[in-house]
Amino acid sequence: MKNRLSHRLQNISYSQTIAMSSKARKLKNEGYDVINLSLGEPDFTPPNFVLSAAKKAIDEGYHYYTPVSGYFELKKVICEKFYRDNLLQYTPSQIVVSTGAKQAIMNVLLSLLNKDDEVIIPAPYWVSYLQMVKFCESDPVIIPTVMEKNFKIDPDQLEKAITSKTKLFLFSSPCNPTGSVYSYKELKDLSEVFKKYPQIMILSDEIYEHICYSEKHASIAIFPDIYHQVITVNGLSKAFSMTGWRIGYLGAPEWIAKSCDKIQGQMTSCANSIAQRAAITALSAHPNKIEYMIKKFEKRKNLVLDMIKEIDGFQFYQPNGAFYIFPKVSSFFGKKLHGKMIQNSYEFSEFLLEKAQVATVSGSAFGDNECLRISYASSEDKIIEAFTRIKKVLN
Ligand SMILES: Cc1ncc(COP(=O)(O)O)c(C=O)c1O
Repeated sequence: MKNRLSHRLQNISYSQTIAMSSKARKLKNEGYDVINLSLGEPDFTPPNFVLSAAKKAIDEGYHYYTPVSGYFELKKVICEKFYRDNLLQYTPSQIVVSTGAKQAIMNVLLSLLNKDDEVIIPAPYWVSYLQMVKFCESDPVIIPTVMEKNFKIDPDQLEKAITSKTKLFLFSSPCNPTGSVYSYKELKDLSEVFKKYPQIMILSDEIYEHICYSEKHASIAIFPDIYHQVITVNGLSKAFSMTGWRIGYLGAPEWIAKSCDKIQGQMTSCANSIAQRAAITALSAHPNKIEYMIKKFEKRKNLVLDMIKEIDGFQFYQPNGAFYIFPKVSSFFGKKLHGKMIQNSYEFSEFLLEKAQVATVSGSAFGDNECLRISYASSEDKIIEAFTRIKKVLN
């Protein structure tokens, strides 16, 4: 059966984060007391004012296809949001609303990439980037980073990775899985390199924009010299805890927005109408309306850092954003734990699931085999219990 599938499909693999979550859910259904720290999903209920807007939209009869790129009213609100939060100037013709940031990113890749084009991706990267690029039959060019430099690339590394085939640079800040946030100055330095290569486009995935702690979020499109090279992607999933509502959006040069509109018109017609109405209310609100969630995440981050310190063998750093920590666990490789030899981060993550019943995701899924991704988008009680169990099986 396998060879009936397209080469394109055979080239890609399942999402390891979704696979781990499904595994944890299955074990839970079988009666195991699994704590799931593998999820990239906040555990809050979306804000009440957004829920009310969705209910109102149902009552008001928003049941039908919307314009392909989204309701005009929503696109106007997105422009206002981009200006209010990021000082970016877009017009509605530069905006496309999609079924999650995931679709927004895929629309851009399908718009730009041909076979054998190169896409530069700093590692660790979000799992889907690599597979999406491969799906387009293009070649990911990975720039490795190190924990000692907060998992960030510098301009020299970027310039060395550029070739005549480079079409796109793809990154997220705050980063999933590391929680690293590029500062304004660091983005400015990278922008100086991009300025020399106007043919290279930059996809800036800012889905964790509001979940920032000690470093303030900045958008790379802010630098006028490269504004026309940048596609800024964002969405409601993380900031508003609305993962299932599937609303993402982008601001881009008009030719890219037009192309995403063309693709989306053939693929999905439009994003969900009720969720779009709710998005108008969500994005019109000042970010201080969601600050309570960010404060909770910060508290959990500090709790995780306190608890992880107590476990011998975990090497870690201060994440400045998102809701993940990405500790180095390679000190356990080549050792026998409870009679089981651990060779890599995948085996370590499996070990934690089996012995501590804590689900995490192996760093290899994100391009770093020495680390482990632990999500703290869970209650404090669950975090405390999970780390107590991990400590117990390891010490
Ligand atoms: C970096 C990053 N980009 C994009 C997405 C996808 O977001 P959405 O739910 O809007 O498709 C995720 C979700 O985990 C993510 O971590």
